[in-house]
Amino acid sequence: MLSGKRILLIVTGGIAAYKTPDLVRRLKERGAAVRCVLTAGGAQFVTPLALGAVSGDKVYQDLFDLTDEQEMGHIQLSRDADLLLVAPASADVMAKMAGGLASDLATTALLATDKPVLIAPAMNVRMWEHAATQANLETLKSRGVGVIGPDDGDMACGEFGPGRMTEPLDIVQAVIDFFSRGRPLAGKHALVTSGPTHEPIDPVRYIANRSSGKQGHAIASALAALGARVTLVTGPVALTDPAGVATVHVETARDMLAACTEALPADIAVCAAAVADWRTADAAPEKMKKDGKALPSLSLAENPDILAALSTGGDKRPALVVGFAAETEKVIDHARAKLAKKGCDWICANDVSPETGTFGGDSNRVHLVTGDGVEDWPQSSKARVAETLAQRIADHFAAAAQSVDQTSE
Ligand code: PMT
Repeated sequence: MLSGKRILLIVTGGIAAYKTPDLVRRLKERGAAVRCVLTAGGAQFVTPLALGAVSGDKVYQDLFDLTDEQEMGHIQLSRDADLLLVAPASADVMAKMAGGLASDLATTALLATDKPVLIAPAMNVRMWEHAATQANLETLKSRGVGVIGPDDGDMACGEFGPGRMTEPLDIVQAVIDFFSRGRPLAGKHALVTSGPTHEPIDPVRYIANRSSGKQGHAIASALAALGARVTLVTGPVALTDPAGVATVHVETARDMLAACTEALPADIAVCAAAVADWRTADAAPEKMKKDGKALPSLSLAENPDILAALSTGGDKRPALVVGFAAETEKVIDHARAKLAKKGCDWICANDVSPETGTFGGDSNRVHLVTGDGVEDWPQSSKARVAETLAQRIADHFAAAAQSVDQTSE
């Protein structure tokens, strides 16, 4: 079942670490090769000797161990794996992962990886329910990290509730499901735009908008989780690149169009970027000076429309082009008009009035406008919106394939 799969098991600090030799044994019984990284906290609950004996491999513990680095550099550790599994995942490691810290071997391997990551959280119920842990969880999910559990039950600390690490056999099942789950978008190439664009006024100033890239990045992760090969073209954002996604960083609308054109052909395009409609007609080559006389005026030129260009791309047109419509009034009417004007297949209308917090926030309320009508999706996290859209896209391709099959029968 897991034959030939290479799993890097990262064991962090928590009483549930005592179950990890059993987890290793069960994974190996199913054919996986397991290599372990043990944090200092994890080593309080399970010994490297026990993990080394069951895995049949060296247990890696120290980022700065010269011998370890010569034998197997920390980057190579994650490169050599098909999957990184963090079990138990403490509140501390989740916070470090969400914050992009690389303070020890485990977090460095996690930050350096472009492989899929599954975590099996385990902690006290109050730590699990704390707003900080829940926010970190949402951040990790939006980046495509898979989460196993935690389960409800009695805990070593004497409390009851969610926070218990999922039992080893169930973790093994989740790993098997991960490797064998239907990846309905396997073989499809998806192009996603995300974030704002910056249009220079001079070498130090620019025109921009409030997009954080959270929605576009979450869509890239969700499409990758369904098996698509994803190219994410992103404007300047303060987010880490999603795992398993080829990310191209651009600054201006014209750069974004060039990167999208370069990424074609694609089967799917999702344009979630807030592309600046205008740029300065002539960006000053040197920093503009305040001379106390006349105020400078900006003369603007229209930027290329990337969504319209992809939608009318002739034989390079992706089979499904999805746009977004950021509106502050008459959301559906304006979205319908954009769908017709830009020539895309679907448009995700969202209200971006300041009180909604859509720009930059963690949640969104989308109305999917298609030729068939309007679907009102509930207000939910941007990760959930992304999963719903990715699944909707997968269903669309499945339906299209089925109708081709029926026609050819
Ligand atoms: O990034 P976040 O903080 O998570 O916020 C998410 C979001 C609000 C940015 C996102 O959900 C969203 O609505 N993205 C589209 C923003 C936008 O520019 O909307 P628009 O209505 O102005 O443009 C319509 C469509 O044309 C969009 O798909 C846009 O990507 C595209 N467009 C617009 C102008 C242009 N020159 N080129 C384009 O491709």
